[in-house]
Amino acid sequence: MRTLSLSPRSPRCHIFPLLLIILTTLTPLCMKVTSAACHVDDDSGLLGFKSGITADPSGMLASWKRSTDCCAWAGIICRVDNRVTSLSLYGQPDTPNSFVTGTISPALSRLTYLDGLYLQNLQNISGPFPDILFGLPNILYVYIDNNKLSGPIPETIGNLTRLGALSLSGNRFTGSIPSSISKLTQLTQLNLGGNLLTGSVPTGIQNLKSLTLLALDRNQLSGAVPNFFGTFSNLRTLALSHNKFTGEIPNSISTLYPTLSYLELGNNLFTGKIPDFLGKFKKLDTLDLSHNKLSGTVPTTFANLTKIFNLDLSHNKLVDPFPQLYVKGIESLDLSYNNFHLKTIPQWVTTSPIIFSLKLAKCGIKMKFEDFKPSETYFYDFIDLSENEISGDPTALLNKTEYLVSFRASGNKLKFDLGKLRIASTLKELDLSRNLVFGKVPAAVAKVEKLNVSYNHLCGAIPTTKSPASAFVGNDCLCGAPLKPCKVA
Ligand SMILES: *[C@@H]1O[C@H](CO)[C@@H](O)[C@H](O)[C@H]1NC(C)=O
Ligand SMILES: *[C@@H]1O[C@H](CO)[C@@H](O)[C@H](O)[C@H]1NC(C)=O
Ligand SMILES: *[C@@H]1O[C@H](CO)[C@@H](O)[C@H](O)[C@H]1NC(C)=O
Ligand SMILES: *[C@@H]1O[C@H](CO)[C@@H](O)[C@H](O)[C@H]1NC(C)=O
Ligand SMILES: *[C@@H]1O[C@H](CO)[C@@H](O)[C@H](O)[C@H]1NC(C)=O
Repeated sequence: MRTLSLSPRSPRCHIFPLLLIILTTLTPLCMKVTSAACHVDDDSGLLGFKSGITADPSGMLASWKRSTDCCAWAGIICRVDNRVTSLSLYGQPDTPNSFVTGTISPALSRLTYLDGLYLQNLQNISGPFPDILFGLPNILYVYIDNNKLSGPIPETIGNLTRLGALSLSGNRFTGSIPSSISKLTQLTQLNLGGNLLTGSVPTGIQNLKSLTLLALDRNQLSGAVPNFFGTFSNLRTLALSHNKFTGEIPNSISTLYPTLSYLELGNNLFTGKIPDFLGKFKKLDTLDLSHNKLSGTVPTTFANLTKIFNLDLSHNKLVDPFPQLYVKGIESLDLSYNNFHLKTIPQWVTTSPIIFSLKLAKCGIKMKFEDFKPSETYFYDFIDLSENEISGDPTALLNKTEYLVSFRASGNKLKFDLGKLRIASTLKELDLSRNLVFGKVPAAVAKVEKLNVSYNHLCGAIPTTKSPASAFVGNDCLCGAPLKPCKVA
């Protein structure tokens, strides 16, 4: 999922140009604006919020000190009259200690002018659905993502009719999506992804006609997806992946073709064919239909998806022929584990100037690796060509991939000297099992986290690695830990 764009915040003071023009009349007012402390209710509400925080190891709230102007505190925006309108705290993903532990204090309801509440990636804010939202008369934008809120989303959520955006993704909400959500007709963004929600999608969501983003991905939702997309004339992002949806891809999705750029339906139980109408989606840049039970051919209309740069059709039951595509540049492609017989890596793939992830496992490719001559190799992060009939030598190509993280080519007919393979410093996964690779295992594999060179023709002492015996078995004469010790000559 891409991250959601936030609404612009209201600037605090607009009066400086005016100040220059009518300096004398405005001086007393501006003195007041800049020197006055924030409103006592906002001040006590925010300090109350801070007292609900029990751990803040990175000091996100360090500037929140009693007897200082709360409008100057980190994450706070005030209007010109010093009333707090926005509270935003962001954790940095993958940064140690960038989290906050605690609950959302009811004291926050003293911030009667608050219109935006952004508590994102704080990881450890817990407690139930924040009832304080009902006590905030001006609240418009709520983004409490990637925390540990839990329990049900209450039916009373339908009272928050003013909301323009509601994002509660990456929490632990359980139960079903309340049908009263249909009353939040001002919403432009609804993101409930990454929770533990069950049940079906309420048909009332069709009343949210202004949605540009609807994300219900990574839950346990089930049943058929309602065929209600005809009412969304502005939808740009639709994410329903990683649920248990059944039935065919709803045909009313076809009405979204003028606006939709991001469509994620992967990891469900969808059956039937990939609809022809998807070829009309001229703005589509991301299409994920992977891990479903889709059958039949990929529509020839896909030739018109010229904007697509992220295409994942893997793990379905799709069959030949795969259509000719005319993409400007594919960045990420996965057609693995269908019933394709591509014979070769398609030309629209090799000519792509920006590809970083190429996954064509079990695609019926029968070629020499040396004949794979991509016009650009620099950006490759992931290559998976497992379970094909590729022969020859990948060392020249891997010599030109500066940032490769994973190379998987198990179950092919690759025949080359492993000792001559350059192991990029970024490489974390190398699977060459079940090929015809010969030579010695180079010491540089030590830093490869997931290594598999089993069932080849390798020989000699295994360098020190953390990989288990199953990564080395089935070779001609490999020896040393984790296999049997080498015979002393
Ligand atoms: C997260 O919060 C829980 C209490 O809600 C606490 O036990 C746990 O230690 C916190 N995690 C971290 C990393 O501080
Ligand atoms: C929701 O609105 C109803 C009717 O306006 C009101 O009676 C009820 O108290 C509200 N509930 C909450 C939690 O604000
Ligand atoms: C691509 O779009 C054009 C114009 O909309 C249409 O005439 C053509 O048939 C489409 N091509 C395919 C292969 O569907
Ligand atoms: C790898 O590249 C280096 C220079 O960048 C070159 O000397 C070497 O011969 C290349 N090896 C292979 C197998 O292409
Ligand atoms: C290595 O590959 C073989 C055959 O593909 C497989 O049986 C084995 O489990 C793999 N071992 C590891 C450590 O991945």
